[in-house]
Amino acid sequence: MITLKNPAQIAKMRSAGHLLYDVLESIREVIKAGESTAAIDVYAEEKIRRAGAIPSFLNYQGYPKSICASIDDEVVHGIPSDGAILKEGSILSVDCGLILDGWQADSAFTVGIGRISPEKEALIRVTEECFFLGAAAAIQGNRLGDVGNAVQKHAEAHGYGVVRELTGHGIGRSMHEDPSVPNYGLPGHGGRLKSGMVIAIEPMITLGSYHVMEMDDGWTIKTVDGSACSHYEHTVAITENGPELLTLPGYRFPG
Ligand code: MF3
Ligand code: CO
Repeated sequence: MITLKNPAQIAKMRSAGHLLYDVLESIREVIKAGESTAAIDVYAEEKIRRAGAIPSFLNYQGYPKSICASIDDEVVHGIPSDGAILKEGSILSVDCGLILDGWQADSAFTVGIGRISPEKEALIRVTEECFFLGAAAAIQGNRLGDVGNAVQKHAEAHGYGVVRELTGHGIGRSMHEDPSVPNYGLPGHGGRLKSGMVIAIEPMITLGSYHVMEMDDGWTIKTVDGSACSHYEHTVAITENGPELLTLPGYRFPG
């Protein structure tokens, strides 16, 4: 069931989203070679709690940490650990969510550690472009296939793989609500977007094949072929005035 949010509810989600933006911006400063992903997780949890919010990932279906930290061929849901030390040349995806005043925000980004290959640079850039193209199509009256197709077309034009087994999602009082938001699809197909819907759009794009597998820890998802993957996500409100990126304050779509 899709729950529509009224303007007062979207205002609360905006507060949650803007707080998550602040948390993620400050996390960027502690990401460097030699740092463990566990240390980044502790930093994020403290930031969230000090602001009076709750880390939404912690204990979600038994998930043990407040962020997901996925390195190189890890697609999503990498569990932060003391043994995972960031190395120059790797790419790291950080995914984080929080609950403020009962409302959820969810956002992810990917960065390079020190100098990275031009291939990885391009992957990160194009994944972000995929997100913004998808989000620009998230307007009332359009369909979910318009969003997915915008992401897929751009990724595949670069020869990249679009992960299919994981998708974006509706979000509100719960982190995962209807509808599912695939990063692929056909224009004019799928559920119709309405003003008041709030969705997390989150392309996961690989340098190789799109096939993924789950590791024995029950969480970490990796590419089957070992290719690197980039992930980028924002919480997006569909409004009368177009899409609003609740986790990217002040962003305005071009045109
Ligand atoms: N942020 C992820 C998503 O976009 C969910 C993380 S799963 C968790 O769907 F278990 F880590 F919380
Ligand atoms: Co999400």
